[in-house]
Amino acid sequence: MLVSEREQLRDNLETWIKQYGSNRSALIPVLEEVQRKYGHISEYVMQVVADILDIHPVEVDSVVSFYSFLGHKPKGRFIVRLCRTISCEMQAKARVAQQLENDLGIRFGETTANGNFTLEWANCLGMCDQGPALLVNERIYTHVTPETVHDILEECRSTFGVYAPTSQTVMDVQSTDTSKMTFIGVDGRIGLDRAMEMESKAIIEAIEDSGLKGRGGAGFPTSLKWKLAAEVDDEQKYVVCNADEGEPGTFKDRVILTDFPDLMFEGMTVASRAIGASKGIIYLRGEYTYLRARLEDKLEERRRNGLLGSNVAGVQGFDFDIEIRMGARAYVCGEETALIESLEGQRGEPRNRPPFPVNTGFMGHPTIVNNVETFAWVPCILVKGADWFRKIGTETSTGLKLFSVSGDCREQGVFEFPLGISIRELLEKVGGEDAKAVQVGGAAGHCIPASEFDRAIAFEDLATGGSIIVFGPERDMLEVAQNFMEFFNDESCGQCTPCREGNIRLLEGVEMLGAGQCSMKYLRELCNLGETMQMACKCGLGQSSPNAFLSIIEHFKDEIMGRVSVAC
Ligand code: FES
Repeated sequence: MLVSEREQLRDNLETWIKQYGSNRSALIPVLEEVQRKYGHISEYVMQVVADILDIHPVEVDSVVSFYSFLGHKPKGRFIVRLCRTISCEMQAKARVAQQLENDLGIRFGETTANGNFTLEWANCLGMCDQGPALLVNERIYTHVTPETVHDILEECRSTFGVYAPTSQTVMDVQSTDTSKMTFIGVDGRIGLDRAMEMESKAIIEAIEDSGLKGRGGAGFPTSLKWKLAAEVDDEQKYVVCNADEGEPGTFKDRVILTDFPDLMFEGMTVASRAIGASKGIIYLRGEYTYLRARLEDKLEERRRNGLLGSNVAGVQGFDFDIEIRMGARAYVCGEETALIESLEGQRGEPRNRPPFPVNTGFMGHPTIVNNVETFAWVPCILVKGADWFRKIGTETSTGLKLFSVSGDCREQGVFEFPLGISIRELLEKVGGEDAKAVQVGGAAGHCIPASEFDRAIAFEDLATGGSIIVFGPERDMLEVAQNFMEFFNDESCGQCTPCREGNIRLLEGVEMLGAGQCSMKYLRELCNLGETMQMACKCGLGQSSPNAFLSIIEHFKDEIMGRVSVAC
């Protein structure tokens, strides 16, 4: 690198660090800027960044190696990432992959000799209802076919500059029919104004009366989280919106971010009023970069309208603003403490608890982390009343919920149903009556056979953040199990041994079954291993990673036992 180029690079780094703040939490946004502009993060960059932020270069290196969208190795001008997760796998992804390799003359994981293209696999891009999905730099392509691959590559060659900036990204995402959703008829501003007239305690009580629980899947009572954070005496508190939906088969937050972002902003603002926070952060998944510019515009509009900034909504002394931070692709960052680590510029490894984020969260201050959909329901509850929400659903799973439906059914997409709906009822609504199994809760969830389709989708029975993947009569359930185990092998953060090693063994076992090389004795050992992982892994990712494998073995014995080797 020439001296002048180094100087330019250093100038750029100083500008970005100034923009994001001269502290450790600026590390990932700055590295993302470097990755976008220069295509990789060199030794020199790591040293300069470490120098300016006053941290050791090894720490920068450990962060770069953790996130899929950051890397040391130079990549092509266009990084082509094809989703290989289950819903895309079921939509002729293999033919698209073959066509990409043929057209580019390289294999997955390689870069063309002219440095123009790098071809990579991706895990779920949040477009499962429109697969196969392809991400080229920051641009999403959906419903990709072998026939359209050539056109897409030609379009890259002719229209994109080096690392197309966000403003040039265009979404090729089919819009969702939201006309039947409750959100469409709610003026969130009314809910916000009502909250501004209420004491913190009264806001929290209204949410408690509604029975709202976290829509990310864990189902923790929203009001309790807010109450605990409100009780802590601290000048600085944070409201964090988890917009990192990375669970395979989940894409419902994409629809809120696209069609109802104001409801989410209003929910965050109400939360800030309730707990006494002045700062909000949206942690937006890297795959949704195409949404960022629009969300920033919306935030700006709210500032102009006095709904963010100082004296929000005309309430003297109530200051609150929202910043967007981009994820750099790590599934585990969907877990709230891993997300906070990531916001602080660290590897997204889950923390030990206690302390809980409501006491010691972002930068050591009280922090509530709620999902996009959870925030969006808050103004609806304030407008329509806690009773309205509580009367829908079941006693312990109140209200409505958005579901992301993909796989073998007539209508894939985002649907609103009351919690407590049975799998059978849901399948009737989306045209999946002949399904032989449904995966509820994504890769981390459970595979439910037809004999159990009367079970309820609710926190007390089958909990889910909204992912519903339908498997038709012809699906090979061992292939399904293999796809999920490949996903977890990619996504385990490697922090604890049961998860790091266990997922490798389970994937090997599935492959052995497929090859007719797994004995009954070894299959039993694998099941024991899976149960041990459920208890011994450090975080929810590891604990839930064997779920799909174990439930497929349990419910599809006929299919699986036919593959067990009697010879070994
Ligand atoms: Fe491919 Fe979700 S986008 S499975």
